[in-house]
Order: sequence, then C-alpha cells, then structure tokens
Amino acid sequence: MKKHIITLPGDGIGPEIMNSAHELLKAVGEKYNHEFTVESKDIGGIAIDKHNDPLPAETIEACESADAILLGAVGGPKWADSKIRPEQGLLKIRKQFNLFANLRPVTIFDSLEASSPLKQHVVRGSDLMIVRELTGGLYFGQPSERRDGGQSVVDTLTYTYGEIERIVRTAFDTAMSRRKHLTSVDKANVLESSRMWREIVNKVSSEYPEVTVEHELVDAAAMKLITNPSYFDVIVTENLFGDILSDEASVITGSLGVLPSASLSDKGLGLFEPIHGSAPDIAGENKANPIGMMLSVGMMLKYSFGLHEESAAIEKAVNQVLADGFKTGDLQIDRAVTLSTTEMTEKIISVL
Ligand code: IPM
Ligand code: MN
Repeated sequence: MKKHIITLPGDGIGPEIMNSAHELLKAVGEKYNHEFTVESKDIGGIAIDKHNDPLPAETIEACESADAILLGAVGGPKWADSKIRPEQGLLKIRKQFNLFANLRPVTIFDSLEASSPLKQHVVRGSDLMIVRELTGGLYFGQPSERRDGGQSVVDTLTYTYGEIERIVRTAFDTAMSRRKHLTSVDKANVLESSRMWREIVNKVSSEYPEVTVEHELVDAAAMKLITNPSYFDVIVTENLFGDILSDEASVITGSLGVLPSASLSDKGLGLFEPIHGSAPDIAGENKANPIGMMLSVGMMLKYSFGLHEESAAIEKAVNQVLADGFKTGDLQIDRAVTLSTTEMTEKIISVL
C-alpha cells in the first residue's frame, strides 16, 4: 500500500513525539511492505512565528492532497498573551476538513492499573470510547463577543439537526463494533439543544435495535465516569461536554500520555493526534511519552487505511513493553525502568 501523510508536529513536545511517529511508520512500512511518504508542515505557535497564521494556506493545501494527517500538539506559554492563538489553528483545521467525529478510546493497560490515582478495583477492566462532536456547539458559535463596553459577553451554542444526526450515527456504528452499549450525555434538564439531541438519539436508535441506549445528564455522567468507569462502552456527546469528559476519563489510565485520538470526516480524510497537550515544561528534554502518538499512528492505519493487523500489532507492542517493565517519566509502574522518548520509541519498534 502507498500512502502520503502530512505531519504537523506543532509546538512543545510535538516535534519530539512526531519523530517517534516517523520511526514507527518506517518500521511498519518495512515489516508489512507499505510505502508511507511523509511531509511536514506548520501549525499552531510555530506557524504564528513563521507565517503569522496558526494554519497557513500552505498547510491547508498540503493536507488537501494527503491520505491522512498526523498532529503533535499546539500551544505554549510563549503565545499565552498573543492576539492570534495557536489553538485557533487546531479549530480551523477541524472545521476546514469537516472532522466532526472525534473518537477518543480510553483503555487501561494491565501494567498501568497502579498508575491511576483511582483505586485499582475501580479502574480494572475499563475500556470505553468517547465519541465527541468536534465541529459545532459553543466552540464555533456565532456570535461570540464582548458587548456593552466589556460589561457583557455572549457565546452561542448552535447545532443543526444534520450535525447531531451524523455524530449520533457514528456513535451507533461504533457501538455495533464494540459491546453495543451507548450512553448519550447531555444536559436536557436545562438546554434546548440537549432536548433536540435526545430526540435524535431516540429516532436513530430504532435503526440499531441491538444497541442498548441510555441518556445521562452530564453532571451525573462525570461522576459515574470516575466512580464506575467500566460501566461505559461508548459515550456520545456534544463538543464541550466531550472535551471535559475526555480529560476526566484520561485519569482512569494513569497518564494522558498514553491516549490517542482520531478526528474523522465523512469524506474519509482523518486527523490523528495524541490527546495530551504540548507539555512545554518538558519540551526538548527527550522525556515525553511517545505512546499516545504511536497509538495515534495505529488509529490512522486502522481508520484511514484499513490496516487492522498493523494497528493491532502496535497496540500489542506497547502493551508488551509496559508489561516488560519499561515506562516513561509520566508513568508510575513499580520497579519499571524509566526510558527517554527515543529509547521508548526504539523499544516499542524492536518488539514490533
Ligand atoms: C482538545 C483540546 C482542544 C479542544 C484545544 C487545544 C482547543 O483541549 O483537543 O481536547 O478544546 O478541543
Ligand atoms: Mn481538551
């Protein structure tokens, strides 16, 4: 198979973990006889510095002809007070390519059970998928502005029927490929948008009789997620709720550093990135955990290229390396040896 991938390393530890992605792609290509070409472009803070634009036209053009996009991380204290923010690049690329379906799997590796701040018996067996709507809601509401000389402010939450229906369908399809249990999370006791969301979930559910569906209010869901995470299979929710719940869910696994994500459109183009941020405090120190990025490569192989075997092999290699007693600085595993970013990358590739 021949595929062209655009890599957007971005800021902070982004470039370091993107190197791990490059190494991994090289190794998978050699082992399974695929030709992956990669081309690197700017996004986020570095793009502001170089082009005065967090998502330059050149980056968009390159992505248009790509088979998939890999992203490192954007943002950092350097741009905290700048008028144009690095995060705008990320929001813009999601919108530009209609990447409305954000899949965030939360799986706990056996050897990481003790890494979680939650009790081991609580996190054991957790394996859930958050399906987050990514191109609507408060993130993209118009108007969004200060008024009355700064005395009031407005952000707008808008969804069309179609925008809700397509993410709900993605969630049902995802549930069908898993344990067929879907939890739709909303705030229907307060928000009209949530009441419409519920109606659409109920309507679509008639096409998926095998899937057990329930509705949870977001506050209650947040509590259950941390007290009984293994209860959940697939969670579907709107943009902002999904942002918050997915960070909360990452605590279950012991480190944000191990979690991948996929952002998909209905046209087939996908963007894959670890869910952690740019970690400016450790940038350039060869300390970052490359696992979230390497598993994101795995998701790309599976979701964009249909390479299920290759993707499963990456997951297996990661599991094996952790079980063999190797870790990065962000993880707590008894008696495990702490490796640098490059060492961990090599270790995983050697097991692969
Ligand atoms: C995420 C991030 C982004 C978001 C930020 C960086 C804009 O937190 O991908 O979850 O809020 O969507
Ligand atoms: Mn987030």
